[in-house]
Amino acid sequence: MQWLLIGLLLQATSPCLKCHKDFQKLPVKHEVLEDCTTCHEEQGDHTFPTLTPEAIRNLCLDCHDVATQHPPKEKAVCTTCHDPHASRLRLLLKGPEPDLCQKCHSPAPPPVFSHVPYEKGTCTACHTPHGSSHKPHLVAPEPETCATCHKAVAERLRQSYPHPPAEDACSTCHVAHGSDFPVLLNNQLSTQFYERYTPLRYFLCLDCHAAEDVFGPESGFVRGDRNLHSVHVRRPRGHNCLVCHDPHGTEQVHLLRSWIRYGPRWAIPLRIQAQAKRKACQPACHQAEEYGR
Ligand code: HEC
Ligand code: HEC
Ligand code: HEC
Ligand code: HEC
Ligand code: HEC
Ligand code: HEC
Ligand code: HEC
Ligand code: HEC
Ligand code: HEC
Ligand code: HEC
Repeated sequence: MQWLLIGLLLQATSPCLKCHKDFQKLPVKHEVLEDCTTCHEEQGDHTFPTLTPEAIRNLCLDCHDVATQHPPKEKAVCTTCHDPHASRLRLLLKGPEPDLCQKCHSPAPPPVFSHVPYEKGTCTACHTPHGSSHKPHLVAPEPETCATCHKAVAERLRQSYPHPPAEDACSTCHVAHGSDFPVLLNNQLSTQFYERYTPLRYFLCLDCHAAEDVFGPESGFVRGDRNLHSVHVRRPRGHNCLVCHDPHGTEQVHLLRSWIRYGPRWAIPLRIQAQAKRKACQPACHQAEEYGR
């Protein structure tokens, strides 16, 4: 009913719409549709010069202040994605996401672990269609883009000891479009509580934190000349780095968790006195143990 009324009104006011009826059938109309001469200049008897891409772009930008970094102007104009007259879709879009984007960006083969917003095809949850200065055309700097949905992780980044690579970019460790490794990680990393040690199973961490440092004499996690990382990790039923460390950020120094997750329902407290003269570690796993040189 509403559309019928608007249609009748348009017909009444624009003589052009008497013959060009198709626009009226569509529910979403450009607010300036009625005044055809805004964009079409009649030259002679019903002769309208074809609008060049450059002319179209200038027309649209006369009224709309949008970013223009994407797609590059040699590849597309506004009307690649928007209908200048009317559409079935919101914002005069010519097609739904992700088809609209995948006309030019072919999707990668489906990964083993998919990321919900990518799988759903909501590209603009993370990217701006018109481009931005946050590479690669993200709606905000990367950690903020992810934080709109991952509030709990964002909170950990605001704790006293954030992990610098996580503040920098989540894609240092995760693949936003989906990955063949669990938890969308971009490299090998075990997420098991107990793990038989091989360097490959901790590749993601050891790529930046060399094994010689973590398991060597320079590590702070030692008792005398015994490396306690080796004691806990390098054994057939060793503990994963993630048991003690949180890769995003923590309240305690050295990215040490305050709680150790043991199974889906258990969490046991971990108290660390790393800044005291006599360093100590007190989880519920064992009595408070002193460590240090
Ligand atoms: C008597 C019917 C009629 C009226 C009134 C009419 N048109 Fe058209 N128009 C046509 C037909 C028929 C075509 C050619 C078929 C097509 O391209 O859709 C056409 C084509 C066009 C084209 C495309 C030209 C091209 O070279 O591709 C434009 C632009 C256009 N009309 C604009 C207008 C505007 C603006 C008005 C109002 C000032 C108007 N028309 C009024 C019937 C009409
Ligand atoms: C906001 C600017 C704008 C307004 C207002 C506008 N047009 Fe257009 N029109 C365009 C552009 C741009 C194209 C070229 C489309 C393309 O390249 O995809 C176009 C193309 C056309 C065509 C060619 C066929 C097609 O659909 O692509 C017709 C016919 C036409 N317009 C008619 C009209 C009529 C009639 C009106 C008024 C009722 C009107 N236009 C109002 C921008 C406009
Ligand atoms: C004469 C001014 C004018 C021109 C030229 C113009 N527009 Fe618009 N457009 C408007 C107005 C007014 C609206 C109503 C919503 C608003 O105020 O942004 C609108 C709405 C839109 C919307 C929907 C935005 C929303 O928030 O609902 C899109 C998309 C759009 N225009 C794209 C274009 C494209 C693409 C072109 C060039 C082909 C163009 N416009 C040319 C004035 C214009
Ligand atoms: C690659 C496809 C694409 C191109 C090219 C494109 N847009 Fe858009 N535009 C979109 C999508 C998708 C949205 C909706 C974003 C959303 O859902 O938030 C949008 C939204 C808009 C809006 C609504 C308000 C806003 O700023 O988000 C306007 C106005 C608009 N576009 C105008 C333009 C103009 C003008 C051009 C040419 C300079 C253009 N668009 C080029 C895809 C495109
Ligand atoms: C008309 C073709 C076209 C359409 C449609 C299109 N793009 Fe693009 N896009 C390009 C081109 C060309 C580039 C720049 C060249 C490149 O790096 O691939 C680009 C670059 C990008 C980049 C940055 C890539 C990088 O490596 O920095 C992103 C992200 C992107 N597009 C996302 C989108 C999204 C999201 C949509 C849908 C809303 C979309 N594109 C629709 C052609 C298109
Ligand atoms: C969850 C957020 C998110 C969603 C949803 C998303 N992207 Fe991305 N996209 C990113 C991030 C982050 C990067 C940069 C990855 C990197 O640097 O490793 C990226 C990179 C890109 C690139 C450039 C690099 C490449 O892989 O070619 C293109 C093009 C792109 N995205 C297009 C798309 C399209 C098309 C969609 C929708 C089908 C989409 N993206 C959905 C976050 C997202
Ligand atoms: C539009 C919302 C949205 C955005 C934006 C978003 N995600 Fe997600 N993400 C989800 C949903 C939904 C899930 C699945 C439910 C869950 O595990 O929370 C998910 C799951 C994940 C997972 C866990 C997968 C698993 O196997 O447990 C990771 C890691 C992740 N996202 C990283 C990112 C990164 C990195 C970004 C930014 C590039 C990002 N997300 C942006 C919605 C989003
Ligand atoms: C240094 C590598 C690294 C960086 C950088 C990183 N993550 Fe993670 N992320 C991981 C690892 C490893 C896991 C698996 C944790 C586990 O199983 O205990 C994970 C798990 C997740 C999960 C699953 C749920 C959870 O709370 O464990 C989400 C969501 C997530 N990350 C989002 C993000 C976001 C958003 C960013 C950027 C702000 C980010 N990550 C940066 C390594 C990283
Ligand atoms: C049993 C708990 C535990 C496990 C498992 C663990 N760490 Fe640690 N880690 C610690 C403690 C405690 C410290 C703090 C030492 C101190 O006070 O200086 C530490 C310190 C660190 C440091 C800071 C530099 C240093 O060596 O002192 C890095 C880097 C580190 N761990 C990486 C790792 C990696 C990578 C893994 C997995 C291969 C891992 N940790 C496994 C408890 C653990
Ligand atoms: C892209 C490189 C990179 C990756 C991958 C990475 N880290 Fe880090 N990590 C850093 C940097 C940079 C720092 C801050 C400087 C420093 O203390 O070494 C840091 C700091 C730390 C600290 C605190 C060191 C201290 O002295 O307080 C721990 C613990 C740590 N990382 C553990 C891990 C674990 C566990 C993983 C795997 C989930 C991991 N990191 C993956 C780069 C990385």
